[in-house]
Amino acid sequence: MTDSDIQKRKLETEKKFLLRTPSEEIGPMYPVHRPEARGSDLALTKTGKRLAGQPLYIRGTVMDLTGQIIAGAEVELWHADPHGRYPHPSDLNPAALDPDFTGHGVAVTGTDGVFSFRSTKPAAYPTSTPGWWRPPHLHFQVTTQWDRLVTQMYFPDEELNEKDELLARHRRLNQADRVQARALPLEVGMELDALHLVFNIVLPTPHSISAFKAR
Ligand SMILES: [Fe+2]
Repeated sequence: MTDSDIQKRKLETEKKFLLRTPSEEIGPMYPVHRPEARGSDLALTKTGKRLAGQPLYIRGTVMDLTGQIIAGAEVELWHADPHGRYPHPSDLNPAALDPDFTGHGVAVTGTDGVFSFRSTKPAAYPTSTPGWWRPPHLHFQVTTQWDRLVTQMYFPDEELNEKDELLARHRRLNQADRVQARALPLEVGMELDALHLVFNIVLPTPHSISAFKAR
């Protein structure tokens, strides 16, 4: 029995439901034109070289409010580069941009509901509001046949997390833990300085909405 199965059974027994992952706006740095299909490896540049910066491995399970895994969900990931720059024409950050960095990838969950990406940890970047720096984060858009969710994921133990306006809103709404990734031990084949994270994503399905209404 997998961890997802155990969690699902526990929810059923206790008649509890998972809380959906909080939404965020899609903009302003969502790609104007989606790069050509680049798969789930954002660390590999357009020219086939390995992007500099801290290696990042991120995986998660997409599931509904009952803990049922969702296979075939499209998980889109975009984020800034190791200098805090997006390859977007409207980015105000004056930091140098690696011209080979696409900052965008797509994965589809398998029958186990799991997605995974390899990338490079993004840096913090300044916003147009003086003094407000966004902490390192990843943007996700998850599309299933029933729903679409846009959200952001935050890294553990980042000093700037405490000062971020968007995270402050999540804290006020008591939902900050649902946008926070957890660190995992490194696995064979990962670089010694790599970061290995898990970020599970919860969104509704008709089945889970019906179960919720009937509780
Ligand atoms: Fe961002």
